[in-house]
Amino acid sequence: MAMKVPKDRTLDNTLILFKDGYEFIPKRVQNHHLDVYETRLLGQKVALLSGEKGAELFYDTKRMNRNGALPKRVLKTLFGENAIQTMDGEAHAHRKLLFMSLMTPEALENLRELTTTYWEQFAGKWQGMKKVVLYDETRELLCRTACDWAGVPLLEKEVPKRTEDLSKMIDGFSAVGPKHIESRRARKRSEKWIENLIIKVREGKLDLQEGTALYEMANHRDLKGKQLDARMAAIELLNVIRPLVAISKFLTFGAVALEDFPHTKPQVAGDDDYLFHFTQEVRRYYPFVPYLGACVNHDFTWQQYSFKKDQLVLIDVYGTNHDPRIWEDPDTFKPERFQDWEGGLFDLIPQGGGDYYKGHRCPGEWPTLEVLQASFQFMARHLQYKVPKQDYSYSLRKMPSLPKSGFIMKEVTMR
Ligand code: HEM
Repeated sequence: MAMKVPKDRTLDNTLILFKDGYEFIPKRVQNHHLDVYETRLLGQKVALLSGEKGAELFYDTKRMNRNGALPKRVLKTLFGENAIQTMDGEAHAHRKLLFMSLMTPEALENLRELTTTYWEQFAGKWQGMKKVVLYDETRELLCRTACDWAGVPLLEKEVPKRTEDLSKMIDGFSAVGPKHIESRRARKRSEKWIENLIIKVREGKLDLQEGTALYEMANHRDLKGKQLDARMAAIELLNVIRPLVAISKFLTFGAVALEDFPHTKPQVAGDDDYLFHFTQEVRRYYPFVPYLGACVNHDFTWQQYSFKKDQLVLIDVYGTNHDPRIWEDPDTFKPERFQDWEGGLFDLIPQGGGDYYKGHRCPGEWPTLEVLQASFQFMARHLQYKVPKQDYSYSLRKMPSLPKSGFIMKEVTMR
């Protein structure tokens, strides 16, 4: 018997989307035990997808495209205009290869080692500090790591400003008013900074190793054999550095996990498999990316729902990572669940799903795993600290979310 796909009866749910935050889509789709649901946002009919089947449809490039799916305010802050996130088809696949080419086993190993080296430096500094706010410190730690890894020269006096601008780009896209405007300015400053470096590389004024992101972006040629416009190359290089700094959010959540689930700490310190499972569980359990958008290529019907050409579709990232149809006790933090995990393309999707080369799945998933594992291992093995009274709870309504106190540590020592 044909069943009608349920929909919101209210005229517009844009405000409710912000009020419900990470729970907006799961509340609608999963509460009805479905994969698709219709709502209205900014006056338009929007299809909400959730779960493994929903993710599989979302990543079907024959049915969905990205051009036009991202609001201007996100492009002018977080991603940059006309970059890989907005591309489709052959042009996208070619650009994606550029990013994937940076992720060699040697480069990833190098990233892990760099991360540990910076942890050693920072932990040394923290020993003399009265109070350490982990989120603030790791943003700078990762800014240094990211620039080093990408071949981007960073003067000591530039570090605070660059760290601040990269963070503003990450946090300002969902903000309104002055915070959003500051985020746009931070993007402009950052693009200019990197564009100048791209020009220097092309003029032979910077000595660089092949394989670093700066070298590869500066020398990349598009499908027509043309070098990228210097600004475009800068935007794509920022698509490497900025998200590396954003890993500080997962890192801070991981510190909360080590505190809230203390039985995990000795295993994180001593067992490499467990360390990997813990890291995956941090990416699954804690809220980061709430949802992603795509547009429908042509009319089609799926699970009795009629998708219309150009309609906006959102995939529920947070909800799929907490879908009880995929994860047993999804709201329990349980690294062991990854012992038997078979690595599906559409179940664990904190950084998108599907195939890296064919679709938009995050090419930075491996770097993220390397940085997080190096960090959690260092924290559990070498860092001793007291956690004073503070509010490190986090909200599922504020996007992107973060432990409120930023995770404060005191009396930090290294062993
Ligand atoms: C795409 C999340 C780290 C580079 C994405 C997407 C998500 C995501 C959700 C979109 C997937 C889609 O549209 O289907 C994250 C998170 C990170 C992270 C939560 C960790 C904090 C990184 C890192 C890099 C990176 C470390 C680079 C070294 C990119 C790029 C894209 C992307 C270039 C666009 C891919 C495309 O459009 O084909 N990321 N990412 N990300 N990410 Fe990440």
